[in-house]
Amino acid sequence: MAPEPSHKPLSASGAAQDEPYLPFARPSLDEDTIEAVADVLRSGWITTGARTRAFEAALSEYFGGRIAMTFTSATAALEAALLVAGIGPGDEVITPAMSFAATANVILRVGAEPVFVDVKLASRNIDLDQVEAAITSRTRAILPVHFAGRPVDLDRLYEIARRRGVRVIEDAAQAMGSTWRGQRIGARGDLVVFSFHPNKNMTTIEGGALVLDSAEEAKLAELHRFHGIRRTPEGDIDVELAGGKSNLTDVAAAVGLAQLPRLDAFNARRRELAALYFARLNADPQPALPARDDAGHNWHMFNPLLALGRMTIGRGEFIRRMHERGIGVGVHYPALHELALYRRLGHARHGHPNAERIGRETVTLPLFPAMADSDVERVCGAVREVLAGAKAGGAA
Ligand SMILES: Cc1ncc(COP(=O)(O)O)c(C=O)c1O
Repeated sequence: MAPEPSHKPLSASGAAQDEPYLPFARPSLDEDTIEAVADVLRSGWITTGARTRAFEAALSEYFGGRIAMTFTSATAALEAALLVAGIGPGDEVITPAMSFAATANVILRVGAEPVFVDVKLASRNIDLDQVEAAITSRTRAILPVHFAGRPVDLDRLYEIARRRGVRVIEDAAQAMGSTWRGQRIGARGDLVVFSFHPNKNMTTIEGGALVLDSAEEAKLAELHRFHGIRRTPEGDIDVELAGGKSNLTDVAAAVGLAQLPRLDAFNARRRELAALYFARLNADPQPALPARDDAGHNWHMFNPLLALGRMTIGRGEFIRRMHERGIGVGVHYPALHELALYRRLGHARHGHPNAERIGRETVTLPLFPAMADSDVERVCGAVREVLAGAKAGGAA
């Protein structure tokens, strides 16, 4: 796909570059997908309908027969999951101190309180050693994140949850196709939520899914998904609760139906590209690479930590210099308790050192299935060049 003209980068000398702009993420949408969308648009039925039902059936099969419900986003699906679990005012939910804001915001949105636990530096996942100590009489759920698609230790997580009598809502927004001990994330567990945002390993443009076992809870989730409307066997409608409106459209579902069969190939390519980064990303000062152990990892992102203490420039300037070289770099994520909202709510600014360090130092390098091996070489070359020019004590 041609880059947006506005993204055409300038080189350090100010000259427009010949190489196309390399974003840090880009969806792989083929002509069949575009045709499938066009078919829906021509059909006269463009909102929730047969395609959405077919996509939910395909997801259910993918997750070993569990119930799969689609939503307009993972954020909406997470909120529905919390409501289905009966979580509300007065309740605490334990969640990692480093994630996308949606992970914690949804807890606030249902009136409950997020309790942040630090993440492990190597895995970036919630530190299960600290989870148990954070459980109080008000804790109703643990809401872990499979960060960048690296699976959380589900055996340990569910052992703690079962023993302490709390629910689990897995934020698997980034974990489509990840596995834990050979089993897909989502194929087991309590309430599991995925995202199909365009940056994710498969997309529906915007979209998400809630995977669960209980038909009763699915009925409740349906009420939250669509205005609280219940249809009686007689064909009347009634409204049971003040539900939201977060049903997926058939246009989005058509994209999802075309993406799902390609997911394994997408993820296999992501793993190859990640392996190439591990082999080629050497610079001075050397960034700290993510943990290499990639069993079950879908490599949704590749996030090294910059050695800021040994650099003469900050992260913002690093990103700007990479952009000058035609390369997009993201930041995933600042520590949640350091965000203005959570500070205002009284969360201490310090106390989760790994999340804080990641929040300061992390950068997301380009990683998406359509990348060529030479793109990884190009990124590594640019990182090397930018860091060589920013080495503390070296040439400026
Ligand atoms: C960890 C995590 N949780 C939740 C979300 C929210 O997903 P969505 O954009 O589908 O609402 C995202 C999306 O970036 C995410 O990365």
